[in-house]
Amino acid sequence: MGVGVDRSSAELAGARRRLGKDVPLVQGEAGRIPLSTACADAVICHLGLMLFSDLPRALADIGRLLRPGGTFAAIVEAPPAVPVPDSLECTWGEVLTDFWNSEFGRDLPDLPLDGRFEPAGLVELCRSVGAFSTGATVTDASVSLSLSPEDLWDRFLSGIYLVSALTERQKRRLRAMAITSFARRAAPDHIVSLHIPLNLLVARRSQPKAID
Ligand SMILES: C[S@@+](CC[C@H](N)C(=O)[O-])C[C@H]1O[C@@H](n2cnc3c(N)ncnc32)[C@H](O)[C@@H]1O
Repeated sequence: MGVGVDRSSAELAGARRRLGKDVPLVQGEAGRIPLSTACADAVICHLGLMLFSDLPRALADIGRLLRPGGTFAAIVEAPPAVPVPDSLECTWGEVLTDFWNSEFGRDLPDLPLDGRFEPAGLVELCRSVGAFSTGATVTDASVSLSLSPEDLWDRFLSGIYLVSALTERQKRRLRAMAITSFARRAAPDHIVSLHIPLNLLVARRSQPKAID
């Protein structure tokens, strides 16, 4: 059985709507997950690692949750973390900033991204956390999409955590702003292309040392 964990009640409410009532969901902070030691054969973290302020502590706590030999897998953003100017990613960033400023009268908070997500940095980070001393692997898991601006919104952007926390009126407004801007970048067939550079990190929980 799986358990979903997130710090945000809005994100957990969205997960509850998607998953139904039978999947356990727990509110918790990375580094202090309120689950018992060695309770899991696997821990999966999807697009969360880059947001954790104390990553060594978060990884050590994930190691605590895993049984010896258990697997930790994470999808993380790969460099470049800064979108290429004029790209669709950049357009989405501009739309989001405009929306945020006009809706909330303040800047969109910067995400605490730094250079740790170079593959070698991730492997070294896992090695330095005792629980994953046997090392980790990082492989390319990038995604390329070609679809209409409307599908891009409906299938991907409408579900992301920043959007799912908005009111219905705010979502409609952001959708209209995004689709208008994406349509300007679309090819003559009304299709936009998006490349999302991602890496898959896999690390295995070390076995306890044999007692002589
Ligand atoms: C990009 S979203 C991914 C959400 C979900 N894993 C998914 O794939 O749909 C990042 C999530 O990380 C959560 N998050 C960020 N920092 C956190 C922390 N320190 N502890 C727990 N959750 C955190 C946010 O609330 C947000 O829901």
